[in-house]
Amino acid sequence: MTQKLFGGTAVQVPVIGQGTWMIEGSADAERRGIDALRTGIDLGLTHIDTAEMYGTGRAEEIAGKAITGRRAEVFLVSKVLPSNASYEGTLRACERSLQRLGTDRLDLYLLHWESAHPIGETMRAMEHLIDNGQIRFAGVSNFDVKQVQAAQSALRHHKLASNQVLYHLGERGIERKLIPYCQAEGIAVVGYTPFGRAKFPRPDSPGGRVLEGIAKAHGRSVRQVILNFLTRLDGVFTIPKAGNLEHTRENAGATGWALSAEDIAAIDRAFPAPTRDVPLAML
Ligand SMILES: NC(=O)c1ccc[n+]([C@@H]2O[C@H](COP(=O)([O-])OP(=O)(O)OC[C@H]3O[C@@H](n4cnc5c(N)ncnc54)[C@H](OP(=O)(O)O)[C@@H]3O)[C@@H](O)[C@H]2O)c1
Repeated sequence: MTQKLFGGTAVQVPVIGQGTWMIEGSADAERRGIDALRTGIDLGLTHIDTAEMYGTGRAEEIAGKAITGRRAEVFLVSKVLPSNASYEGTLRACERSLQRLGTDRLDLYLLHWESAHPIGETMRAMEHLIDNGQIRFAGVSNFDVKQVQAAQSALRHHKLASNQVLYHLGERGIERKLIPYCQAEGIAVVGYTPFGRAKFPRPDSPGGRVLEGIAKAHGRSVRQVILNFLTRLDGVFTIPKAGNLEHTRENAGATGWALSAEDIAAIDRAFPAPTRDVPLAML
């Protein structure tokens, strides 16, 4: 699995990670989810993304089961809900997440989206958690450039490590300003929902046919082409969620080979990035 520097942290992180939103369900589905996560770790998909919001904590418990005995191999990420993101609320939410995950430290803790609590309070709590050893790095999610700048200025003695945002072929607005800003500032950009959910390119659409052609030429699948494309830029990562082994294996095969300049140009034509600034998209 290809790794790259996670922003300015000096830590190498796999370009493809594993999401956990909606991984909870029946006992059988959860067993498959745990198997998928563990197989993903075997294949080097060691960046595991979860949040206190997912399944109201259940996703964290499932992630905790998946990483049992393997904590050291994993770059573990969770998120505080904006409604909990006061100073004290962030500290307590982190404690609960650590308990559900069965660990004493997160690698990265994110504010899930902008909160009504002042960003200074949340970031002060993040710094306390870093100083206390409960988290290694602090970050945000669903933040545009101005919000990122506010979070950066609120941090007094640590740097903002990451911003997790929506990024798929139908939502490329972050390529205009947010990605260049984060690259310059050493902030890792983690793209979520790489397959676009309902906006996944249909095989019989013109864009779908372009992807099929590229996939065929490389002996890869369309999803592998998409993940490869979405991680082509420095400092940009992706975290597909897979609930079964076959999907995890397929996603793991998205790196270790390169799209050509012509492939990238063809994807750019079929799924153009906006030509003017657009508001930050989120789910
Ligand atoms: N920060 C935020 O606000 C935010 C928002 C949304 C998501 N996220 C994070 O990002 C992660 C990924 O986003 P997402 O879950 O919204 O969407 P996604 O990863 O783009 O898509 C997940 C869907 O794709 C399917 N899938 C995955 N790999 C596949 C494959 N190889 N072949 C066929 N189907 C495949 C999954 O099915 P199966 O489950 O059946 O494998 C699932 O239905 C989340 O799980 C979460 O951790 C963060």
